[in-house]
Amino acid sequence: MNDNEKTEIFVTGGAGYVGSHSILELLKNGYSVVAVDNFSNSKPGKDQTMPESLKRVQCLAGKELTFYEVDLLNKDSLKQIFQKHTFSCVVHFAALKAVGESCRVPLDYYRNNVGGSVNLLEVMQEFNVKRIVFSSSATVYGVPLYLPIDETHPVGSTCTNPYGRTKYFIEEILKDVSKSEKGWSVILLRYFNPVGAHESGIIGEDPHGVPNNLMPYISQVAVGRLKELMVFGNDYDTVDGTGVRDFIHVMDLAEGHVSAVKEILTAEFKGCTAYNLGTGKGYSVLEVIKAFEDACSVKIPYIIVDRRDGDVDSIYADVSLAEKCLGWKSKRSLKQMCEDTWRWQSKNPIGFRT
Ligand code: NAD
Ligand code: WQD
Repeated sequence: MNDNEKTEIFVTGGAGYVGSHSILELLKNGYSVVAVDNFSNSKPGKDQTMPESLKRVQCLAGKELTFYEVDLLNKDSLKQIFQKHTFSCVVHFAALKAVGESCRVPLDYYRNNVGGSVNLLEVMQEFNVKRIVFSSSATVYGVPLYLPIDETHPVGSTCTNPYGRTKYFIEEILKDVSKSEKGWSVILLRYFNPVGAHESGIIGEDPHGVPNNLMPYISQVAVGRLKELMVFGNDYDTVDGTGVRDFIHVMDLAEGHVSAVKEILTAEFKGCTAYNLGTGKGYSVLEVIKAFEDACSVKIPYIIVDRRDGDVDSIYADVSLAEKCLGWKSKRSLKQMCEDTWRWQSKNPIGFRT
């Protein structure tokens, strides 16, 4: 048994896209993982004991993890888990994340994301577990004042939707908690645009319903589940008029979580620090379509439609802080993001139900 195996990590939202890929990396790095999910945006396993995504993660890792079906809004269930285990750290992925839906049902988002996080923090405090790595988002920056965007850029004031504001509010709550008493350690990971899948094609992104995001939409067009892609606007001030984003391979992101966990477990780490997780390079929507067509030898029919409300023209990260402090840097190219997305989608045309 190595030292990490004695280190139990509590992972919320572990059955989801980023959670499942990150758990794989945590297991591969020797950590023990206890994961929870309420399946609001993921699929339970056939026997209800372990979601299909995490069954596959266990196969890929050659190692087991513990899973409980729990809703963060149910504080008693959370407490029962904390009674059974001794956690060194929490990695908090669980959240609702659909931007458009958050505008229609903002209170659901505030209750689930903010309320669920407050419950989690209260239980952590009760059981003296005071280290947390939080899934934040580049969305907290709102409309960029400059590019590339670094962690000192203002957050919150120009967030364009309730989902983004839940991330901003949770960040603020975590900052307050970390100042309120000694011993709290908080890492805010601000993801840019996670895409791709594990290189095996065995796990990947499996959104409920019609995808909101670009890459899963493209891959569902490629596999024939959707007819054509709608490109939201071609009159932005960018290289070809379409939106520019910092797409990051989900396995790079997963490795970023392992680096963050290693950092937060050191005696030196204290307080609350935010890190951007991106590549530092932006690609336009048309560039992504072209890269996907080239990498996967498939045609992606698309039409140009109006701009989508709340979209900015360009956003990409300054990633130097994560490299300096976490020793982490993304490695995978856009080509690899497309190839791995396609391997997952073509092997699993209807996701984890395949
Ligand atoms: P996801 O929906 O695939 O995973 C989130 C998981 O949390 C789901 O399995 C869902 O069922 C679960 N969940 C939600 N509410 C819960 C609750 N109350 N109790 C227990 N489980 C709950 O999303 P993802 O893409 O893996 O995102 C993970 C985290 O990263 C989220 O916090 C998201 O806001 C954040 N994030 C994602 C992106 C992205 O584009 N994927 C970008 C930036 C930040
Ligand atoms: C990327 C580009 C679209 C779909 C979202 C959230 C953000 C974060 C990451 C969680 C934009 C264009 C998209 C389509 C298109 N999530 N597009 N046709 O909006 O940068 O970020 O996911 O925290 O909070 O807002 O990602 O993938 O939706 O869009 O033309 O069908 O693709 O206009 O330019 P976005 P996205």
